[in-house]
Amino acid sequence: MCGIVGYLGPKPAYPILIDGLKRLEYRGYDSAGVATLETDGELRIEKKQGKVANLESHIGANLPQGTVGIGHTRWATHGPPSDVNAHPHAGGKGRIAVIHNGIIENYEALRGLLTHRGHDLVSETDTEVLAHFIEEVQTSTGLDLPDAVRTALKEVIGAYALVVLDQTQPDRLIAARKSSPLVIGVGQDNEFFVGSDATPIVAHTKNVVYLEDEEVATMTRSGELTIRTISDAAVTPAIQAIELEIASLEKAGYDHFMLKEIFEQPKSIRDSIRGRVRLQSGEVHMSGIDDHWDVWSKAQRILILGCGTSWHAGLVAEYLFEGLARIPVEVEYASEFRYRNPIVRNSDVVIAISQSGETADTLAAIRLAKEHGAHVFGVCNVVGSSIARETHAGAYTHAGPEIGVASTKAFTAQVAVLTVMAMHLGKRLGTLDDATFMRLMTGLDNIPGLVQKVLNNAAPVEHIAEKFARAENALYLGRGFQFPVALEGALKLKEISYIHAEGYPAAEMKHGPIALIDEAMPVVFIATQDEVYEKVVSNIQEVKARGGQILAVVTEGDTKVRSLVDHVVEIPKVHNALAPLLTVVPMQLLSYHIALMRGCNVDQPRNLAKSVTVE
Ligand code: M6R
Repeated sequence: MCGIVGYLGPKPAYPILIDGLKRLEYRGYDSAGVATLETDGELRIEKKQGKVANLESHIGANLPQGTVGIGHTRWATHGPPSDVNAHPHAGGKGRIAVIHNGIIENYEALRGLLTHRGHDLVSETDTEVLAHFIEEVQTSTGLDLPDAVRTALKEVIGAYALVVLDQTQPDRLIAARKSSPLVIGVGQDNEFFVGSDATPIVAHTKNVVYLEDEEVATMTRSGELTIRTISDAAVTPAIQAIELEIASLEKAGYDHFMLKEIFEQPKSIRDSIRGRVRLQSGEVHMSGIDDHWDVWSKAQRILILGCGTSWHAGLVAEYLFEGLARIPVEVEYASEFRYRNPIVRNSDVVIAISQSGETADTLAAIRLAKEHGAHVFGVCNVVGSSIARETHAGAYTHAGPEIGVASTKAFTAQVAVLTVMAMHLGKRLGTLDDATFMRLMTGLDNIPGLVQKVLNNAAPVEHIAEKFARAENALYLGRGFQFPVALEGALKLKEISYIHAEGYPAAEMKHGPIALIDEAMPVVFIATQDEVYEKVVSNIQEVKARGGQILAVVTEGDTKVRSLVDHVVEIPKVHNALAPLLTVVPMQLLSYHIALMRGCNVDQPRNLAKSVTVE
C-alpha cells in the first residue's frame, strides 16, 4: 500500500526522499509528497496528485534544502486521489507533518472531537486526523514529542506505520507502527533512514531495525535511536544486516519490471530449490518441516491461507499435498477465513503463502490460526517480513525483490517451494514411492532450464497477443493442476490489461460460462498431456462448436489440439505435478504483451498496489 520514506542526517534530505519515493512507487501511486524542515525553520510541504514525476515537476528547480524530511506515495483509502488528500498532512498549527500507511478505524470519532475543539480539517483522510490529534495532545499536555505521539496512539484504533516531523524539533524524527511494517535504517555519520520496506534504505545502509507492533522510535541527529512501546516499556533496538542488493531493484535493461521478473524465473526457481533438492544424494531437505516433525507427522489436515496469486499457488499445493503426501488440504482466502469463525484444530498445520509477507488479511488469518493452537508455516519471499516473523517455521522463496505489481516470479518460486515440501512430506510419510520421488526430483531440477526454453521460444505469444488485444472478455480453462494456472492467467490479464477475464475448471464451462462463448470471446485452454487431456480436448470441441477463438498451451509435439484450435504455444513434456511451473509462463507473457498493446501501465496498473497492508 502506501510507501513511506524518511531521513535525518547531515545531507540534504530531498534527493534521498525523492529517490526513495521512486523506489517505493510500486506500493502506491495515487499521489506523492514530501515535507522537510528548511534551514530557515520553515516546515515545507510539497505534494501532488499522481506519480512521483508530477511531484518533481511541481517542485521544479526550487528544491528543498533541509536535512530532515519525510516522503510518501499514496494508495487512496479515505478520500480520492487529489493534491489535498496527498500526504504529508500538517497538524492545525502547521507545526507538525505526518505520513501514514494503514487505516485509522476510529478516525470519525477523533475527527468529531477535533472539530469540536476548533480544528479545521481540510482533507478527507484519516491521516490528517492523526496529525491534528497528535498536535492537539502535544499542545494540551505539554508533553515532549515522543511522549505526545505515544499518548495519542493509545487512543487510536486501527493500523498504522507513521512518521512525524516537528518544526520545533529539527534534530528529531519520530516513527511508530502497529500492523503496518516500518523499517529504520541506521547509517554512518549519525544518519537515519525510515522506510515502509527496505527498498528506499538499501542504497544507503544495510543495517536496519524492524519496528514491532506498538513501538515508537525516536531518532536524533546525534545518532541515538530509542524505542519505547506505547505503554512505555523500553525496547533495545535490534540491528540486523539485510542482504538486499540495490541492483536487484533496478530494471537491468528491461522495459518493465514485470518483463524482467518473468525472464528471471529460471534463476528465481533455481534459487528457491537450491540446497533443498540434492540430486546427488537423492534427497530433499526442508528444515522448517524436519524441525517440527512431531507436528507434521501427525497432521490431520493442511490449511492453506493466502490472497491473490499466493492463493493460486496454494491451490496448486492442494493437488501436490493431497497427491504426494495424502494429507487432506483446504485452501482458504485469508480474508474470508478470518471472519467466518473457522474450525481450526491443534492437529492442523497451516501454511501461509505471501510474496510480501505483509498482506494484512493473511497476517490476521495466521494470528487467528495461532490463537486456535495450529502450527503455522510461512512461505514468504520478503526476508524479515511480518508473516515470516510471526509464523512458527517456514521456508523463504528466494525469488528476489518483486517490484512489478503483477506477481510472476513469486508464483513460480512459491510453487517450487511447495513442491519440495510435498515431496519431502510424501517421502517421510511413506506415501510417495521412490521411483516417483526420484522422477519428480530430477524433473524439478530440470525446471529452470525448461522455463528458459519456454522463454526462448516465446516469440509467438506476442503475435497471438495482437489477436486478443482488443477483446473485452476472456475465459481461461484448465483441469487438475492446470485449473489454478487458468485462474492465475485470468488474474494476470485483468489486473494489467483491464480486460474482464475469468478462470474456470474446464469441465465447469458447460454449467454456465459456455453461454458467453461467441466469435468475440477468446478462450485460453491449458491442454497439456496428462490424465485429463482427452477430457480437455472434449471441452475444446465444445468451445470450437460455438465459434470461440481458442489459444491452447500444449505439450511439445501435440497434434490433436493443434488441429482444433486457432493458436498454440508449446511447453516441454514434464510430470504433470511440475507442469504449472511451465504453463504459467506463456500466461504471464500473454498478459504483458496485451497490456502493452492496450497502452496500459504494466508495472503500476490502476487502483492496485504491490503490498496490500490494509483490510
Ligand atoms: O504479497 P502477497 O503474496 O501476500 O500478495 C497477495 C496478493 O495481493 C497478490 O498476489 C496480488 O493478487 C497480485 N497483484 C497478483 O498479481
